[in-house]
Amino acid sequence: MSNIRCIGIATGGGDAPGLNAVIRAATKAAIVEHKWKVVGIPDGFDGLIWPEKSFELTLDKVSGILPRGGTILGTTNRGNPFHYKKEDGSDLHDISDQVIANAKQLGIDAIITIGGDGSQKIGYELFQKGMKIVGVPKTIDNDLSATELTFGFDTAMHTVTDAIDKIHTTGASHHRVMVVEVMGRDCGWIALAGGIAGGAHVILIPEIPFTIKNVCDYIARREASGRGDCTIVVVAEGVKPPPEFKENRRGGSIGILIGNAIERGSKKEVRVSVLGHIQRGGSPSPFDRVLATRFGVAAVELIAGGEFGKMVALRSSKVVAVDMADAIGKLKAVRPHGELVHTARAIGIGFGDEEENC
Ligand code: F6P
Repeated sequence: MSNIRCIGIATGGGDAPGLNAVIRAATKAAIVEHKWKVVGIPDGFDGLIWPEKSFELTLDKVSGILPRGGTILGTTNRGNPFHYKKEDGSDLHDISDQVIANAKQLGIDAIITIGGDGSQKIGYELFQKGMKIVGVPKTIDNDLSATELTFGFDTAMHTVTDAIDKIHTTGASHHRVMVVEVMGRDCGWIALAGGIAGGAHVILIPEIPFTIKNVCDYIARREASGRGDCTIVVVAEGVKPPPEFKENRRGGSIGILIGNAIERGSKKEVRVSVLGHIQRGGSPSPFDRVLATRFGVAAVELIAGGEFGKMVALRSSKVVAVDMADAIGKLKAVRPHGELVHTARAIGIGFGDEEENC
């Protein structure tokens, strides 16, 4: 058993719908079940650089936050205490000792770090330096290999599906090709699942190399078969520019560049929608609320059992604990010959590669 009186909660990296549900569940379980004090650490581990900004999380403080998107604690994807930028942005230095000392000064015995791969890596490094850390995985990208699902993904799916449904009606009215760029960083889960749910015709993901020519041929075949009133092309933001690509991406929207290339190649009118951060916003779906609540309670139970350096995860639909060391740095890419891609191909969705099936 662990000798815990006070825990801290921090949210790091990009926000995701469901963060507040984890904060609420962990706070409630800690206070009601264990009579612990709970401290909210603002803006990821940045909140431990300025400990005076931390504040107590009470039952009142977490009341009403379940349906709220974002995080009441704030977050950052820049504040790494092992490589911290000086205020003038000049140099990177290690302030992890200061962070650990500040946590002690606040009376924090253990910390729940809710975040993606970057935040879990920081948490693991702090654990290696003696801090009692437990991780909760989060990302709309659903790209962490240690867990079948992360909360936030389902809500993002709702947003993407709703957007594609709307794009269908305007695209069909104007007989256009509609390109929809979605998030997902280096993995194609949002594009693949959102594309299937939204009835996309073509899905371009980082895991499957494609050519613009194949996409244009697909559009031409749809037209020739009389089904070409509108073609929806979902593009994952992380796709690599195809070999025939002439334009320099220079950090701009890959969806716009691909849309331009399709317009040139297909001679069709093309419009592009970049869904962007609306995919990260809004109220969490019921599924994400439940998963986030299960993760929050499980994290508190790990602390109560003295199981540190662990991250909660979903495996075979059960919440389990995995070693943080095994969980970090391993991305879960879409398998190009996996069941979901096979399902998409079987209903005629194209991937812009050589295995087209229109
Ligand atoms: O990891 C979540 C995510 O939304 C990615 O899909 C996207 O590439 C990135 O974060 C955007 O980050 P930022 O909010 O820093 O622009």
